[in-house]
Amino acid sequence: RLLIVDFGSQVTQLIARRVREAGVYCEILPFQSVDDAKIKAFDPRGIILSGGPASVTEGQSPAAHPAIFKADVPVLGICYGEQTMAKELGGSVESGHHREFGRAEVEIKASTRLFEGVWQPGDRKQVWMSHGDRVTKLPAGFSVVATSENAPFAAIADESRGYYGVQFHPEVMHTPDGAKLLRNFALNIAGAKGDWTMAAFRERAIAQVRAQVGKGRVICGLSGGVDSSVVAVLLHEAIGDQLQCVFVDHGLLRKDEGEQVVRLFRDHYNIPLVHADASETFLKALAGVSDPEKKRKTIGALFIDVFEAEAKKIGGANFLAQGTLYPDVIESVSFTGGPSVTIKSHHNVGGLPARMNMKLVEPLRELFKDEVRALGRELGLPADLVNRHPFPGPGLAIRIPGDITKEKLDLLREVDAVYLDEIRKAGLYDEIWQAFAVLLPVRTVGVMGDGRTYDQACALRAVTSTDGMTADYYPFDHAFLGRVANRIINECRGVNRVTYDITSKPPGTIEWE
Ligand code: XMP
Repeated sequence: RLLIVDFGSQVTQLIARRVREAGVYCEILPFQSVDDAKIKAFDPRGIILSGGPASVTEGQSPAAHPAIFKADVPVLGICYGEQTMAKELGGSVESGHHREFGRAEVEIKASTRLFEGVWQPGDRKQVWMSHGDRVTKLPAGFSVVATSENAPFAAIADESRGYYGVQFHPEVMHTPDGAKLLRNFALNIAGAKGDWTMAAFRERAIAQVRAQVGKGRVICGLSGGVDSSVVAVLLHEAIGDQLQCVFVDHGLLRKDEGEQVVRLFRDHYNIPLVHADASETFLKALAGVSDPEKKRKTIGALFIDVFEAEAKKIGGANFLAQGTLYPDVIESVSFTGGPSVTIKSHHNVGGLPARMNMKLVEPLRELFKDEVRALGRELGLPADLVNRHPFPGPGLAIRIPGDITKEKLDLLREVDAVYLDEIRKAGLYDEIWQAFAVLLPVRTVGVMGDGRTYDQACALRAVTSTDGMTADYYPFDHAFLGRVANRIINECRGVNRVTYDITSKPPGTIEWE
């Protein structure tokens, strides 16, 4: 396995993704947390130093901890990582007067194990640069293996120690050969085996769950989404009927979703499942609530109450299973709050484990979202579930601006179903991050047949995104949009006008509330 030391780059997680794609397990540690004990405990085959926003030429800038170079394993420094490595090993770095941002070209000057089978001396190759500073004097033992117009030390190597530095970012798509370079580092230089696959993960995770749980009983909240579904099936494989699933149905799901969850888990997988239909309770609590944050809080609090009541009814559970993912547990580098670190934690049923004296089982803690999907496929979950678009916890409640009623929910379910049906038929579902309809609190005049209508308007939304943090609207062709609008108005009584939302994020958000 490999260790990635994070200096706060926006794309550190991409380094981890590329290394794992090479079949090598890796974890990310913020630079502040590195010390001899941590490195010894993790026992990495190699270490990668990420980029970061700081400048090593400033006094207080984060430095690569000496423990990294004492570990006697190969090290690859990327961008800021190259600079801090060079400085710590006795070289020097200067603020560049010629900044390089975006596409650049490197010229390969010498062969190195890092480029083996990918780049030859004399090649000119496209890379992605994003730096102001640059290395100006090499530490002893290093030589230049590639240059760029503004970075005479665009890539440096000390083959004997297995130390490499690149000024460019091999982890991003705009460095087309970057993944191969990272693979060379992980497999050939660091000597990792490359046998980290989902099949292997499945075996290991099952063994770990068995060891943790013993003869205990586990409660798992099922939502119908990818993460909780994968957790449930994995746990069932590990501990059989010591697992009890609870599906809190808040009535804010899409058309037929509740029945699908019950059918799949109870009927197909034979997993003990309580279907708590609490839609009436939720509707009552939401009556007259229009403020988006108040909706979220109402739903969140009620969800916990219902879940707790069901768990108590079942009784005797020692563990609560959660679909926490790796991005939720990575400690993030914080420059604003000094050396302190922020730990993001995902609590779907926050506070419950402590309240009910349960321990957490989180078998997906090490995985990225697309790895969870791969694990779902490995476990034989249906493709349409594994590839399902993200769906917010508060469900359709935040897709109906204004107050929520049963009638509005039913109408939105119909509109949404028609829209998604057309997207699937057009073969576009997997190209889109998220697609959904919003029922607007607006009435407009229309004409149907010979009659006047005065009905609601709806908005359609579809975005592309890689992580939900930024998004672009999906460029449907006009014929497609016309077809969807036509079907919605003909099939969904109560809607007589359809609009398409072309806002990107930022400045918009994906959801309307
Ligand atoms: P926004 O609307 O913030 O959405 O651009 C980003 C992603 O988060 C989802 N989302 C939520 N998920 N509870 C959730 O579990 C929420 O309250 C919530 N609000 C937004 C949204 O669907 C998108 O995937």
